[in-house]
Amino acid sequence: MDFQCVVLILLFVQNITAKNISLDRATDPDILEDASLDTFSLIRKYGFPCEMHRVYTEDKYILEMHRIPHGRDNVSTEKRPVVFLQHGLLSSSAEWVLMLPGKGLAYILAEAGYDVWMGNARGNTYSKHHVSLNPTSSSFWKFSWHEIGYYDLPAMIDYIIKETGVAKIHYIGFSQGTTAFWVMASTRPEYNDKIVAMQALAPVGYVGKIRSPLIKAIAPFTNQMEILFKIFGQNELLSNGKVNELAGQKYCVEEAITQALCTNLLFLLCGFNEEQLNATMLPVVLGHTPAGASTRQVVHFGQLYNSKKFVQFDHGWISNRRIYGSFKPPAYNLSAITTPVFLHYADNDWLATPDDVDKLLKEVKSAMGKYRVPMAKFNHLDFVFAINAKELIYDRMLNIMTQFNK
Ligand SMILES: *[C@@H]1O[C@H](CO)[C@@H](O)[C@H](O)[C@H]1NC(C)=O
Ligand SMILES: *[C@@H]1O[C@H](CO)[C@@H](O)[C@H](O)[C@H]1NC(C)=O
Ligand SMILES: *[C@@H]1O[C@H](CO)[C@@H](O)[C@H](O)[C@H]1NC(C)=O
Repeated sequence: MDFQCVVLILLFVQNITAKNISLDRATDPDILEDASLDTFSLIRKYGFPCEMHRVYTEDKYILEMHRIPHGRDNVSTEKRPVVFLQHGLLSSSAEWVLMLPGKGLAYILAEAGYDVWMGNARGNTYSKHHVSLNPTSSSFWKFSWHEIGYYDLPAMIDYIIKETGVAKIHYIGFSQGTTAFWVMASTRPEYNDKIVAMQALAPVGYVGKIRSPLIKAIAPFTNQMEILFKIFGQNELLSNGKVNELAGQKYCVEEAITQALCTNLLFLLCGFNEEQLNATMLPVVLGHTPAGASTRQVVHFGQLYNSKKFVQFDHGWISNRRIYGSFKPPAYNLSAITTPVFLHYADNDWLATPDDVDKLLKEVKSAMGKYRVPMAKFNHLDFVFAINAKELIYDRMLNIMTQFNK
């Protein structure tokens, strides 16, 4: 079963690079343009102010952040509460602005009075830079989401606090953006005091009950990295250029067969929910996703699925001994987390399953509660892309956040 899935992915990846289905139906020029604009230009196109900021991590990665300092209609410059958004696996800051104003979370927050900062993890489209390492070299890609939590988040949070002069900021993470938060808040507990409250959209920590075919397919091979590296690349997972352009531009026109193709590629990781995914917007989503990640990020999730624990990267027992001083990777100490945490989850989420969310709820002592999305079919990507995300999640989340701004 798992092996079949690997073969399927392999065939699919080959397929998408080999075939060449041309656009046989013109799509809305706005859609095509939005598929190719970067986060900054996209935000400006829709009339919002946007700034770019460059952040250096302790281990010398160079990250790009995007900021919407205020809304389009809500322009008051009086002291605004500050919110930081961290994207999910294979994604970028674009995730928060791909859906149009009124739908995309970053726009909604800006109009609600927030100063909105969007992070970009090392290795994605906007953060593929290092002071001395070249992204074409393997040494650049030797990281998982552990390093994103340990280095990237603290660097970006410190930068925002310095730049805005506030003492604490709100944190909203989606998927891996929550995983990295657990890493930071447990390994560098002093950062708990820099966060007002943490909103976890589709919280991923324990993944023992995961239903994602991609992660399940990878899991049995996490001890045979050569096989995975052969399929997914040793450095960057399914690098952006190749899959992105082909899938986004040529395959994702609104036509049954090609539509199914691109749904497969993107949703192999997460599954999908036809009801809440606006098919017209697919080219835009695929124009920006996958935005780059290291193969080790997925391998690390695969390891967690195998071990049913929330632990650091398993380098093999010899290297573990050298790096951690023990044969097995140490567990993240979730009881060190003290930031108020709100867990937003959905029944049909293939990555953040209700059982795994419950486990987090039990172990994160500062968890204030879990909040179920009131829709049975709601899936993982719906948290950022759903047609009704505002009504189903964001309104409630903003209510929670408001209580901390008094
Ligand atoms: C792919 O399609 C484009 C545009 O239809 C065409 O110019 C190009 O030659 C095709 N490439 C292959 C390999 O068939
Ligand atoms: C889907 O997206 C298109 C293009 O942005 C938009 O015109 C349409 O109203 C959306 N459909 C729904 C149901 O939101
Ligand atoms: C985990 O963190 C808590 C709170 O800081 C601490 O009391 C406990 O000793 C830690 N456990 C381990 C195994 O480090």
